[in-house]
Amino acid sequence: MIQKPKIILTGDRPTGRLHIGHYVGSLRRRVELQNDPSFDKIFIMIADAQALTDNADNPEKLRQNVLEVTLDYLAAGLDPQKVNIFIQSAVPELTELAFYYMNLTTVSRVQRNPTVKTEIQMRNFEANIPLGFFCYPVSQAADITLFHGTVVPVGEDQKPMIELTNEIVRRFNNTYGEVLNECEILLPDNQACMRLPGTDGKAKMSKSLGNCIYLSDPKEEVEKKIKSMYTDPTHLKVTDPGHLEGNAVFTYLDAFCRDEHFERYWQDYKNLQELKDHYTHGGLGDMKCKKFLNQIMQELLEPIRERRHYWEQHIPEVYEILKKGTAAAQQEGQKTIGEVRRAMRINYLDDAELQKEQMLKYTKAE
Ligand code: TRP
Repeated sequence: MIQKPKIILTGDRPTGRLHIGHYVGSLRRRVELQNDPSFDKIFIMIADAQALTDNADNPEKLRQNVLEVTLDYLAAGLDPQKVNIFIQSAVPELTELAFYYMNLTTVSRVQRNPTVKTEIQMRNFEANIPLGFFCYPVSQAADITLFHGTVVPVGEDQKPMIELTNEIVRRFNNTYGEVLNECEILLPDNQACMRLPGTDGKAKMSKSLGNCIYLSDPKEEVEKKIKSMYTDPTHLKVTDPGHLEGNAVFTYLDAFCRDEHFERYWQDYKNLQELKDHYTHGGLGDMKCKKFLNQIMQELLEPIRERRHYWEQHIPEVYEILKKGTAAAQQEGQKTIGEVRRAMRINYLDDAELQKEQMLKYTKAE
């Protein structure tokens, strides 16, 4: 059996700078995978068209953040020689494909999508859901399949989109013939990375809650945010036993700390488990833990900040990278949409066979 090519497709809405939740949720994985030779192609999409579905009245926000997100990508270590970074709205085949896919699923199917449900509530859309917003999961199926994406590294909240994508793929292939591939989601490998809480301990990092640590935050800002992080409100005196549940500092340590960090910064302990044991028994203050977390975060973020600074001084090159990535995406998109049109038998104008058949039909009737 021939092995199907392994193709990564993933992306982000350009609604703000990327934070460390994005980093552990998917960005770090993408940087690792770009060096894995078993992947044939990698496409990273800046989902501006999807972002418009709930920002229709504020295109300027997206216009600014397309560049911010690209800078964050490059800063995080995505290598433009290895990945194609492209802009969604510049690939019109995505819209075309989404339009065909809308016939292959139902309103009730999208209504049951838990991520869409939560987003509708968060945005107070209940009575007035923009139609485009409602359809974005279908357009996301087009995003993945136009590139024959087989592996989609994203956060857990995107799981319902991947399920819908595969349903549409099966429906398409049954109806029109085997053209599309199913894909698999690639989730972060631990629970803390899956849902990194905000610095206030709240469920998720979000700009509106002001609880994010951004990849581009300056050193002092990161330190300040870590120092004021939510820990355990019952841990009043150092001697009190501390609790790990809901303690943001320890959730971050779960996401970022490795044994080698203890060798480098805190030789009193061998690993995170020892530190946790001490903390829960009592006798360990929050500030010490925060100082350690800050050392780990600075080690991670320093090279990211440096690379960002470099690219900020090379903006015309950044646009060249986007142009090149987008051209590659357009080429791929045109190829796939040709296959789709042929399979759907709507390629009337470049189907010589059909045209001949039609001609014969009428000449015979003469
Ligand atoms: N919905 C994703 C997000 O909000 C962004 C996105 C759009 C995406 N199209 C995609 C992710 C296709 C993976 C694959 O972050």
